[in-house]
Amino acid sequence: MVKYAIITDKLTKKFGDFVADNDISLKVKEGEIFGILGPNGAGKTTLISMLTTLIRPTSGHATVLGKDIIKQQLEVRKSIGVITEKVTMYPPLTAEENLLFFGRLYGIERKQLKEKIDSGLEEFQLSKFKKRPVGTFSLGMKRRLDLVRVLLNEPKIFFLDEPTVGLDPITVSFIKKKILDINKKGSTIILTTHIMQDADELSDRVAMIDHGNLMACDTSAALKKKLGKKATLEEVFIHYAGKELRDETGRMSLAPRRGF
Ligand SMILES: Nc1ncnc2c1ncn2[C@@H]1O[C@H](COP(=O)(O)OP(=O)(O)O)[C@@H](O)[C@H]1O
Ligand SMILES: [Mg+2]
Repeated sequence: MVKYAIITDKLTKKFGDFVADNDISLKVKEGEIFGILGPNGAGKTTLISMLTTLIRPTSGHATVLGKDIIKQQLEVRKSIGVITEKVTMYPPLTAEENLLFFGRLYGIERKQLKEKIDSGLEEFQLSKFKKRPVGTFSLGMKRRLDLVRVLLNEPKIFFLDEPTVGLDPITVSFIKKKILDINKKGSTIILTTHIMQDADELSDRVAMIDHGNLMACDTSAALKKKLGKKATLEEVFIHYAGKELRDETGRMSLAPRRGF
């Protein structure tokens, strides 16, 4: 029997009269990489924010590992790791000090924490920057350090909001490989992206969102097959969403939206 890491039922978020997410019903299987794909402003971050209990839905329901995102907020928070577009680290503190701070917050015992920090920094090729203030780090280094932070807590589910935006190609390739590694070790991963290629390469299944509406949800191969043998994921998206330009960046596979 398939077990589901996440189930949403008509999840909706309104900001005033504006509907950011509209009746989103989907299921994420345990152990899969699930891509949420859509142009800027589609409602991806809003959806992630509801699932990670940062904001409350206007209506609808959702569970994360069987826990209700409204009634069991604390239980949900304990089992998840979240990486947003904004860095969660304190710039004046060193990489090590930041990780010690978060590790204690997660309740990890001191000796074990120190070992985990050293192996995490090693794995993400940051060991030589251990004593450097995070404020001096490049965006790619910050993103890698944020992954070290999240992994300290050994979450069963990772939420990654636009994990590759604004990074150089070498860092993008490094981070994609790490996402696949983390998944192979058994964690479920939900990632949002407006970059078709990333969704295509990483995801077991893809949900396409536009103007807050879920338009399609399937494997990338199945979505492409519906349009014909040689269709790209980009063509599938345009098939559902149309070609109308989005006001924030114009074309959806270009231009990062925000940095840190
Ligand atoms: N706190 C908020 N107040 C008002 N509007 C918001 C707020 N957060 C997001 N929105 C709007 O909701 C829409 C979806 O935003 P978001 O979920 O951030 O999109 P995405 O992550 O797909 O780019 C956008 O039009 C955005 O301007
Ligand atoms: Mg977003």
